[in-house]
Amino acid sequence: MKDLAGKVAFITGGGSGVALGQAKVFAEEAGMKVAIADIRQDALDEAMEYFAGRNVTVHPVRLDLTDRAAFAAAADEVERVLGPVYLLCNTAGVSQFGPLAQATYDDWDWQMSVNIGGVLNGVMTFMPRMIARGQGGHIVNTASMSAFVALPRCGIYTTTKFAVRGLSESLRAELGEFGIGVSLLCPGAVNTNIHRSVETRPEKFGETGYYGRDEQVFAGLKQVIQDGFDPIDLGRIVREAVEEDRFWILPYPEFIDGQKKRDADVIAAMELYADHPDTIRRAELAAQRGDRMPGS
Ligand SMILES: NC(=O)c1ccc[n+]([C@@H]2O[C@H](COP(=O)([O-])OP(=O)(O)OC[C@H]3O[C@@H](n4cnc5c(N)ncnc54)[C@H](O)[C@@H]3O)[C@@H](O)[C@H]2O)c1
Repeated sequence: MKDLAGKVAFITGGGSGVALGQAKVFAEEAGMKVAIADIRQDALDEAMEYFAGRNVTVHPVRLDLTDRAAFAAAADEVERVLGPVYLLCNTAGVSQFGPLAQATYDDWDWQMSVNIGGVLNGVMTFMPRMIARGQGGHIVNTASMSAFVALPRCGIYTTTKFAVRGLSESLRAELGEFGIGVSLLCPGAVNTNIHRSVETRPEKFGETGYYGRDEQVFAGLKQVIQDGFDPIDLGRIVREAVEEDRFWILPYPEFIDGQKKRDADVIAAMELYADHPDTIRRAELAAQRGDRMPGS
């Protein structure tokens, strides 16, 4: 999507971290009108203090993005105040780590409700509005390198991020005909507040097999991300991807070797069956029909 200036962006999780970096770049550098939606009022207040006096249009919305009715109401409010949303950044996400063997259903349900449900609710809220308007738009979903790499103690988070990747690849395959671009941001480490995620975990998901508010745990998690990307620099990369309509946003080439190994393992597993009689039968049928394999 070109010509961002003056258009409206809706950014979930915009009170902090990756999303706040995106909000700064799209408001201050691209000249967009930006709505930041977040469950934390203190994070919204702090972000608005930053934007005050900077000659930008930023509108804060308190939103629990797992609440579908509230999401629709937030969209109505933002479109009334700022105008139609052209850029949707489904950025908010949470993490909590530990062995799958210790996870409770609440542990699963919380991360799935925010990381998958939140992205889904963003898409279900704004995609029909973009399609109905008929003037295109762009959706940026934030997953993680955990959409590719399954590490121990990250199972729930990894499951949610694989899902965001699946949803995003599917949207990319379908929304082009409406002039709606789709991008998938997969960060490695970013220096944010995600180590404190459990502070936003609602009461209804109260039973955990992992940790709660624990400064020692938070300090350990922060160590993993503190040398990561600055959210503003990452926001600039996201802006370029939106303007160039690039799907993959993967600014972490240190993951290339691992990815090559995973690709090679998958291909080798397929090649085991290259000479299987059913492979040969299907290939003959496909050749007769002139089929192309989906995805090739
Ligand atoms: N920080 C990293 O190293 C890293 C790495 C890979 C992926 N990511 C992804 O980046 C995205 C942003 O995370 P971050 O690192 O900026 O974390 P962050 O905690 O700094 O920001 C996330 C924001 O989302 C908000 N949020 C959480 N639950 C919400 C809900 N139910 N409704 C509305 N808002 C909610 C939080 O209040 C917070 O302000 C996430 O999807 C995360 O998985 C981060």
